[in-house]
Amino acid sequence: MCGIVGYIGKRRAMDPLIEGLRRLEYRGYDSAGLALLQDGSIEVVKAVGKVSSLQEAVAAHWPDEATSKVGIAHTRWATHGPPTVANAHPHVDGDRRFALVHNGIIENYLALKTQLQRRGRTFYSDTDTEVLVQLIASCYEGDLVQATAAALKQVEGTFGIAVLCRDEPDHLVVARRGSPIVLGLGRDETIVASDVSALVAYTNQVIYLDDDDIAVITANNVELRTIDNVPVSREVAHIDWDTTAAEKSGYEHFMLKEICEQPTAIANSIRGRLDDTLGTAILSGLDLSQHDLALINRVVIAACGTSLHAGMMGEYFLEDLADIPTEVEQAAEFRYRNPIIGPNNLILAVSQSGETADTLAAVREAKYKGGLVASICNVVGSTIARETGRGVYLHAGPEIGVASTKAFTCQVTVLLMLALRLGRTRRLSREMGLELIEELRRLPDMVRTVTERAPAIEQAAKRFHDAQGMFFIGRGYLYPVALEGALKLKEISYIHAEGYHAAELKHGPIALLDEHVPVVALANDVPGRSKVIGNMQECRARHAPVIATATDGDPDVAQHADEVIWIPRASRFVAPVLTVVALQLFAYYFARERGCAIDQPRNLAKSVTVE
Ligand code: F6R
Repeated sequence: MCGIVGYIGKRRAMDPLIEGLRRLEYRGYDSAGLALLQDGSIEVVKAVGKVSSLQEAVAAHWPDEATSKVGIAHTRWATHGPPTVANAHPHVDGDRRFALVHNGIIENYLALKTQLQRRGRTFYSDTDTEVLVQLIASCYEGDLVQATAAALKQVEGTFGIAVLCRDEPDHLVVARRGSPIVLGLGRDETIVASDVSALVAYTNQVIYLDDDDIAVITANNVELRTIDNVPVSREVAHIDWDTTAAEKSGYEHFMLKEICEQPTAIANSIRGRLDDTLGTAILSGLDLSQHDLALINRVVIAACGTSLHAGMMGEYFLEDLADIPTEVEQAAEFRYRNPIIGPNNLILAVSQSGETADTLAAVREAKYKGGLVASICNVVGSTIARETGRGVYLHAGPEIGVASTKAFTCQVTVLLMLALRLGRTRRLSREMGLELIEELRRLPDMVRTVTERAPAIEQAAKRFHDAQGMFFIGRGYLYPVALEGALKLKEISYIHAEGYHAAELKHGPIALLDEHVPVVALANDVPGRSKVIGNMQECRARHAPVIATATDGDPDVAQHADEVIWIPRASRFVAPVLTVVALQLFAYYFARERGCAIDQPRNLAKSVTVE
């Protein structure tokens, strides 16, 4: 969840470190810091708040600019201890011989800390991370990589780390277990980061570390070994997006940019994957033969948050189009519930980042139980994508806004293509396949029609922006959309918003309705519409204002609603995507009207790499 950057090479390290932190700020951002090896000593500067606060502190610390060419930096999302300067990274040992940045959680840190304190070491922060640097210091006998390996062997938990040693100024040591580390290989420079977005400005040649890898990094070389000192080599991968993909490009917020990018993102998810001859989808990354696909008798989808909602859409698609029993599991529960995985069960991990700790744990459990495991990820080369070894990439481009938008619609698009593919190995006719292909091809333009309606949605959001809470209700395919609409609103506007099945409302939550709690009712012209109209009337009878989504030209919905958001006519498979885009815009304008920090909502981080 925290962001890590390390640099060694030909430039002033300060520049790529600060630039990298700025690009990682979306991952976690309550404090930041950096350490440079300057004139034979380690100097550390930290600040609470955003990277801009760190920049000010750096300017004050080095008025003449630091010339060091090696350093490490960090942006923190607090786990152990509040966001203070003392708790910000990098952490150093008592002699300032070592500095370390860390992403992850050291689970046995209290036991280790007690041992180290008994041996006379003094601690200066509340963090689990400080234990690591003190442990490395206590293991050091003149070789940083050996000391790091020896320390990491004593550690339980997860880490992605970068370590600097005053006595070994020609290299950095990095390691990972459970938290991502990627090495960018430039010309006469090497950049370390927890996320490629921090290094694409310098190179597109990268190496992803595997768990328990340790790397010794110089400006021109990367030497890899395992924690047990066995030399290993890892593939060099090529990143196919550049810095402009991670810029706001004139939009006020990344979230708005990413909402508006959805027509292109969906077109990229679909490109080259539709087959008009057979009326099917081609998902070659699944690497499963027609025979293997035909044998699949159950699908279990594991995911978190927005990706979980996409997974719920997948359940409807797979049961409706492919007749395959499908379950959706909160990834956090998967391994603790002792899931039953049988022969020919496909376990599908859905994750934008490909780094979510719970989803990764579900993948490992499913693999251990002998399941056929595949993933739907956006980030190429991410841990989940690599560990599953088969799957479908979204090709949505980098998603920077913490509130996931384009990844969701692309996940749903990919799940629809998967259902089409699996359906065609079963009873789904070629004609029906061709109809779906036609709809998928029209989807980007239909989404564009929704984004072009932003001004009307903005007006609706402004009208209700002082609501005290909000419910989102839907049925069938629009039920997961109700959950997602509520999640979007609560995470960026901080008002209490709940998504409910429209029929469930009267089993309890209806007690909360009054004139200050509007209900967003998804009443598009898809199966369930007339029942949702009935539910809208129940809400209005309790004085709750109703904001409805309705299909263009619907003659009935408007008379039962206080506000209508119009959605282009589409089948039940595609209407949810269009509706969610409208709800993303609604949440965006609602939060903007309330003056909230849209791209970096409080307490949230983009990639949840701890349990
Ligand atoms: C909400 C959001 C989160 C993520 C969740 C899973 O807008 O972004 O709920 O969907 O943390 O993340 P990934 O998809 O990266 O596994």
